[in-house]
Amino acid sequence: MTFFKETINSVPLQGQTVLVRADYNVPLAPDGSIADDFRIRASLPTIKKLLQDGCKVVIISHLGRPEGRDPKLSLEPVALRLAELLGEPVRFVDQTIGDKVRMAIKRAPGRSVTVLENLRFYTEEEANDTQFAHSLAVDSRARYFVQDGFGVVHRAHASTAAITQYLPSVAGLLLEREYSTITQAMKAPKRPLVAVMGGAKVSDKIAIIKAFINVADTIIIGGAMANTFLAYRGDDMGKSLVEPDEQTILDEIYAAATAKVGSKQVDDFLVLPSDVAVAKAINTAEARHEVAANHLEADDIALDIGLKSIEKAAKIITGAKTVIWNGTLGYAELPNFAHGSARVALALATHRSIVSIIGGGDTADFVLKWDARNGGSFTHVSTGGGASLELMAGEKLPGIESLLDARK
Ligand code: ADP
Ligand code: 3PG
Ligand code: MG
Repeated sequence: MTFFKETINSVPLQGQTVLVRADYNVPLAPDGSIADDFRIRASLPTIKKLLQDGCKVVIISHLGRPEGRDPKLSLEPVALRLAELLGEPVRFVDQTIGDKVRMAIKRAPGRSVTVLENLRFYTEEEANDTQFAHSLAVDSRARYFVQDGFGVVHRAHASTAAITQYLPSVAGLLLEREYSTITQAMKAPKRPLVAVMGGAKVSDKIAIIKAFINVADTIIIGGAMANTFLAYRGDDMGKSLVEPDEQTILDEIYAAATAKVGSKQVDDFLVLPSDVAVAKAINTAEARHEVAANHLEADDIALDIGLKSIEKAAKIITGAKTVIWNGTLGYAELPNFAHGSARVALALATHRSIVSIIGGGDTADFVLKWDARNGGSFTHVSTGGGASLELMAGEKLPGIESLLDARK
């Protein structure tokens, strides 16, 4: 599938000053250091390509959700890490627009990388302010804008939407890869396509569940999401996390699933756990106890899918040609309740002929921690949490739509 937008490979960028929007919204450790540099690594192909083309690269990003200027959310540590990963010097300017930026970029050599300060130190960024976007374009002295912050293209902000009014705007390589991989898997997957869905809430993921009912051959449900499904099907889930008000949504989900596969097949299509792992409290000290999904005690909390369900999920997954996974299958922050998610990760990592796509912020965090190969054990680990979900659900993303259409 060819990408529908212009990219850095399709416009003449050689020797130009280029403004690149990255998503360097990285998780920070309590001491302020970068807890995970996956998003910085993912930005390297675009930056390297632009450097090869002799570009003066100016990078903008947000970090966190600051209210005004907040030194704890400066992008300076990110610039340092980028320099290490690139093996090239990276300049940092503690402003995002204005004279200081203009002068720094004027002085920067032809082939160079400069990171500007956190976009969200300015309220105009999230307000999609045109004046601010204009200043970004002018003060960076850029000839082109490159959108490569896949994780933020579901937002219509100054650096994803308004900016494209002021510069010819094209996609970076990460954005192209994310879009193409996810869209291909949703629109023309190698079958069977198995969707693995979990996480905290059905209500967060209604659109994507409905999209999977249309496109997937089997949907495995786990996590707290499964509790809500099991409760709907009549099981007493004790003290587990259950969303009580999702009756209508679940009626719709089952109606759609039944219309697709028939009532006899519906439980083989929407696969709920037959057993769960429970505890009486949520903490590291709690052991896991396996129980049938219809045998919870009143004070049990279901925190993972059970061993029988894990084996069944692994079997379904190894029979697939494409697996799209979104949402951990249990409370995977606690090792005792990460078994389901770890078993799915293992099944995918040891069957590399299966196209495996992992989306969702917590699920990506989990597999990156689990995988000694930095996500390399899977076909694609998305850098976008919310953006990957919206793309899978078939929504149009403002930060992509606003780029120049590919010439026919
Ligand atoms: P993603 O960010 O990948 O889209 P979600 O945010 O939907 O995933 O869900 C991840 C969260 O769901 C994790 O914090 C995890 O602890 C929680 N979770 C999963 N299963 C359970 C469960 N059985 N009980 C409580 N929380 C759960
Ligand atoms: C993310 O981490 O999901 C993106 O960087 C977007 O951040 P936001 O949810 O604060 O807009
Ligand atoms: Mg999440």
